[in-house]
Amino acid sequence: MSLKKHILDLRKRKEQVQKGGGDKAIEKQVARGKQTARERILALLDKESFTEYDLFVEHEARDFGMDKKQLHGDGVIIGTGTIYGAPICIFAQDFTVEGGSLGLMHARKITKIMDHALKMRVPLIGINDSGGARIQEGVNALAGYGEIFYRNTMASGVIPQISVILGPCAGGAVYSPALTDFVFVVDNISKMFITGPGVIKSVLGEEISMEDLGGARVHAEITGNAHFFSDSEDECFEQIKKLITYIPWSNSKKAKVFPPKPSKFKGNIEDLIPSDPKQPYDVRDVIRAIVDNSDFFEIQELWAANIVIGFGRLNGETVGFVANQPLVLAGVLDCDSSDKAARFIRYCDAFNIPIVTLEDMPGYLPGVDQEHAGVIRHGAKVLYAYSEATVPKVTVILRKAYGGGYIAMNSRHLGADFMFAWPMAEIAVMGPEGAANIIFRKDIEEAEDADAMRALKVQEYKEKFANPYVAAAKGYIDSVIEPNETRKLLLHAIEVSTDKDDHRPDKKHGIPPF
Ligand code: HXC
Repeated sequence: MSLKKHILDLRKRKEQVQKGGGDKAIEKQVARGKQTARERILALLDKESFTEYDLFVEHEARDFGMDKKQLHGDGVIIGTGTIYGAPICIFAQDFTVEGGSLGLMHARKITKIMDHALKMRVPLIGINDSGGARIQEGVNALAGYGEIFYRNTMASGVIPQISVILGPCAGGAVYSPALTDFVFVVDNISKMFITGPGVIKSVLGEEISMEDLGGARVHAEITGNAHFFSDSEDECFEQIKKLITYIPWSNSKKAKVFPPKPSKFKGNIEDLIPSDPKQPYDVRDVIRAIVDNSDFFEIQELWAANIVIGFGRLNGETVGFVANQPLVLAGVLDCDSSDKAARFIRYCDAFNIPIVTLEDMPGYLPGVDQEHAGVIRHGAKVLYAYSEATVPKVTVILRKAYGGGYIAMNSRHLGADFMFAWPMAEIAVMGPEGAANIIFRKDIEEAEDADAMRALKVQEYKEKFANPYVAAAKGYIDSVIEPNETRKLLLHAIEVSTDKDDHRPDKKHGIPPF
């Protein structure tokens, strides 16, 4: 064959394989409101940056008629590319090829690109759209999943791992996304569950739709398995691109520093907080008033909303924010909000991202439900994560810092580098009302006017403890600051912490209260 013919032959082969499962299957995919695997990769990555590998891989299954089937690329596309110039490794399962099901060679393609990502120290993005383990391949399919989970764990904390659920993600397949750092879901398209509606019906006799069992909203609002929710695949890709701008390529790098921008907020920050300490407000307004360009990129916005987590920039540098949200459950820590905060703190710590904590909360949520759900174990994760973190850690107490909450929200005692408090901060073992009822019970009971006595004692307790000055006198708080000074002091704190060096005792690893 002449050289020209070889090239034409290659082009023809490529064109054939790139059609995936063929026109009919693609039509079905489009009818479901989904893009094809190839379209997704091209939509997500920088124009003309995608390079594909293993296009000509063939499956090796021989049982149950598989020997007669040709599965183009074995149902998954792998390759490298860039997002805003950042190098990326990517795989996308192709549902048009045997339902994107995972057989031996399909898994080998995924583990090849995972190994590459880890070796090259670049982020890994996995687009999941699959019927799960390829039933005809038996244990080979299970082995494939096991090898993926192993690599997810090895790569954890070394390179960012992002999972995008753009179709079914069934059975054990959900555990790869669960082992990664960020999970993206799209309304009406994403489905994640261990056992599908069919099995549930036959085992438990319950009828449930796939959407109600494990649709995008379920995971964004109820389970917390998803970190980002969107209404369309294109919106989801925009979210991923934005995330990539905030995080470093690996744990040996820092996130890209952008040109510094002032906050767009023009008013007085204290005006964002109601003067009555019982009134709620949206702590995200405070974050936006502080960060560069007032851009705050929130994570897990719809789940455990009593705590707010996300990225912003200070002087162009990425910072992770953890903030109690007085709008929801008064911003208490409970099982879910503890899990949410602790995981994010560990993410920031693993990837060299300084953490700013904004505190306004009355403590851990009391009650039988929480106790029985394990609030002790879950709450301990926050203590562990903050204590363990060696990145720069700055706290601002905005209003309430009561009890366990005071300690848990990155207090000086857990290793905060800088502790600031606004003048209206109340730092005490518990709220003044509760405290007065307990320690002055006798005085209140014996008084002629119990209500007047209670009010007096509440006031007495407030003056003594519910302010920032007792903690400041002990050096637990470094500075009592005016709210409008917050951005300036945070910029300074981050700037002087750039080369923070904080060593911990040598150990194989700790045993966090998982
Ligand atoms: C082989 C599969 C497959 C699978 C789908 N297909 N899943 N082939 N193994 N796991 C094939 C179908 O036979 C069909 O082939 C094509 O893909 C498209 O599937 P449809 O069923 O037509 O699509 P849809 O109606 O959209 O339904 C999607 C689905 C359903 C809900 C995902 O296919 C389904 O329930 N699949 C099985 C899910 C499952 O139980 N997987 C195993 C989980 S156990 P044709 O030729 O007709 O087009 C597991 C263990 C892993 O994953 C453990 C790891 C620890």
